[in-house]
Amino acid sequence: MTHSPSSIRINEQRFKTNFEALSRIGATAAGGVHRPALSAADLEARAWFRERIEAAGLEYACQRPTGDAAGNQSAVLRGNRADAPHFLLGSHLDTVPNGGRFDGALGVLAALEVLQTIKEAGYIPVVCLEAINFTDEEGAHLGLLGSRALTGKLTSADLGHPNLGVEEFESGLSRLGLTRDGILGAYREPGMIAGYLELHIEQGPTLAESGEEIGIVTAIVGIRRLRLRFIGRADHAGTTPIPRRRDAGRAACTFTAHAWEAVLRDFTDCAINVGNMRFEPGIFNVVPAAVTLDLELRASSKQGLAALYDALVHLAQQESKEAEVELEITLAEDIPPATMHPTVQPVLIECAVAAGYTYRSMPSGAGHDAQSFADICPTGMIFIPSVAGASHSPKEFSHWQDCVNGADLLLQAALELAHVPT
Ligand code: GLV
Ligand code: MN
Ligand code: MN
Repeated sequence: MTHSPSSIRINEQRFKTNFEALSRIGATAAGGVHRPALSAADLEARAWFRERIEAAGLEYACQRPTGDAAGNQSAVLRGNRADAPHFLLGSHLDTVPNGGRFDGALGVLAALEVLQTIKEAGYIPVVCLEAINFTDEEGAHLGLLGSRALTGKLTSADLGHPNLGVEEFESGLSRLGLTRDGILGAYREPGMIAGYLELHIEQGPTLAESGEEIGIVTAIVGIRRLRLRFIGRADHAGTTPIPRRRDAGRAACTFTAHAWEAVLRDFTDCAINVGNMRFEPGIFNVVPAAVTLDLELRASSKQGLAALYDALVHLAQQESKEAEVELEITLAEDIPPATMHPTVQPVLIECAVAAGYTYRSMPSGAGHDAQSFADICPTGMIFIPSVAGASHSPKEFSHWQDCVNGADLLLQAALELAHVPT
């Protein structure tokens, strides 16, 4: 071999050209991207990604044009044994509705760039290197769908209540030639997964405020998503005396206000979000007969998540009783917190130090595909700063030099961890 690993660098211009081209798919007038999983824009991004993989001379290693049984799309650079386990570098190309250009896309394109750089440098890795785009990380239908299917964490029960309903989920899947029943077929034996690395924007203000260039992720938050359905009684909104109403809207709103108070008072290291409320029938002059409230809970430990869950369920029961309405609770998604591998973090730190980057070790308050891998293989994540901490919005922005630093660090870490001979 003619180079030592640390002497090779990603191709900045190619990386940027790819990033800009991808940003145009689903671009919004506000400067962001609208590319929810299984939407037309997601399909276009997938076709574009496949084309880039093939143009790079990498193997498009999927059973079908649209990916594996869960729609995950992979580029593979074979190791010196073609059937060696795969070391994965991944993230996602889908976005939240009216999201930003960097969340997920940066990690997938950096992974592609890393494989292309290693191939061009003439290295033959010991393991197979794989750059992967996971389906529906953001949860348009089911959060971390692709990575959970691949690692065996998704169950058929999970597939029974997707966020937009079964019909919309199945019609999205059919556009990819996939079926709900087939998704679990994306499972891979853990022995075939040598490791997992992900580059991502931080999506919060810590690095931007501290001035450090790199974040080495220590742990990823656990997320539980619930649907609370308050069921009251429709009545005339003018003639029914207020004390006689069984108003589902009242219960949903008092629950929300009191849940915020409880978190601010008793769960200061946790987060909640009421992301949506759907009122039925949802008009001025009818007392709400039912309200479905989408509630997300986040905590860094299993115990913290359980305690927060218990407190909020208790509160929802109290508010329902108070408003004399019924309550139904459906668990939509339950993703445990994850710790990044103790042997991977020091390697990421060594690579960051060797490259001269300032860094800090930090937890992630955002969910990531990496958490699907944390208990089955050496797993690590690299963060770069998000300007003003903005994310899940068109304002999401990271300086290009930080993106390049992150991709170069991903390259060095992949060379180090995937045991490429020099
Ligand atoms: C992923 O973006 C999340 O919801 O944390
Ligand atoms: Mn993401
Ligand atoms: Mn996101």
